[in-house]
Amino acid sequence: MEINKWALVTGASGGVGKEIATILAGKGYNLVLVARSGDKLEELKKELSEKNKVEIKCFSCDLSKDNAAHEVFNFCESEKIKIDLLMNNAGCGLYGSSIELGDKAVGMLKLNIITLTQMCAIFGKDMAERKSGSILNIGSIAGNQPTPMFASYAASKNYVLSYSLALRHELGKYGVNVTCVQPGYIRTSFDNNCGIVSEKYKKFSYKNGMSAYAVAKCAVNSVLAKRSYVRAGFGNKVTAFASGLIPKNFLAWCISNSMKSLTSDTKKAN
Ligand SMILES: NC(=O)c1ccc[n+]([C@@H]2O[C@H](COP(=O)([O-])OP(=O)(O)OC[C@H]3O[C@@H](n4cnc5c(N)ncnc54)[C@H](OP(=O)(O)O)[C@@H]3O)[C@@H](O)[C@H]2O)c1
Repeated sequence: MEINKWALVTGASGGVGKEIATILAGKGYNLVLVARSGDKLEELKKELSEKNKVEIKCFSCDLSKDNAAHEVFNFCESEKIKIDLLMNNAGCGLYGSSIELGDKAVGMLKLNIITLTQMCAIFGKDMAERKSGSILNIGSIAGNQPTPMFASYAASKNYVLSYSLALRHELGKYGVNVTCVQPGYIRTSFDNNCGIVSEKYKKFSYKNGMSAYAVAKCAVNSVLAKRSYVRAGFGNKVTAFASGLIPKNFLAWCISNSMKSLTSDTKKAN
């Protein structure tokens, strides 16, 4: 199936991003794949090119660096590619006490907030000028709730939701859609990458997690249907609804206790 449209997927080297890229290639989208691991992107390009009649370009880039979004846009310009579908999926978490993590949060915040914002502004402007296009931002259920030990990560995902909903209204008049998808636990490398050591937590997260494919399918369907925001999975819809009814301060206390219990097999859990 050839549709002559280009989608850009960040964080395409693994997890949800890889599945998003696979689904979009199956739908006939040409792809720009972005992540740090250039070798993994090339592997995926080979795999998807063999199965689908699509064009694929890889751009290896650390999206937590200043100017990364401009570099990605310049790459697309140099390849004469206009992006129809921007999938801002790349993100990382950071587990631990905020005062102990200190500056470690900065890289995560740049990736989850700053670069995502710049990607939306740069590619969104280009889409607005062409009066067409769609943007997907991946948030998190954690973005609806203050989450001790994931304090800055959860807050960064709160930003993603709020920003996406506002941007949707700004860009709607140009015919450009913005969608935010909020997943809960997903069975990917995310837990290991965010520095959590508790096996108890990881088991819980795995048992209650959705597959990367299921989240990717929800993300692709939601953005193509131009939904405003979607909580991925029935359980997450219920959790998010219920947590919205609880006063935020009490919610933070409940989550703090739940985190303590979930990480009780590690000494430093607090
Ligand atoms: N897993 C969960 O439980 C969960 C829950 C809710 C929301 N989410 C959100 O879902 C999205 C996808 O997460 P995932 O579970 O698929 O995570 P993952 O398995 O850790 O994959 C993260 C992807 O982002 C890329 N990435 C990380 N840091 C990057 C950087 N500095 N520059 C460029 N690319 C970078 C990684 O590629 P490289 O390492 O090659 O750069 C990888 O492709 C994220 O936004 C995450 O916050 C995840």
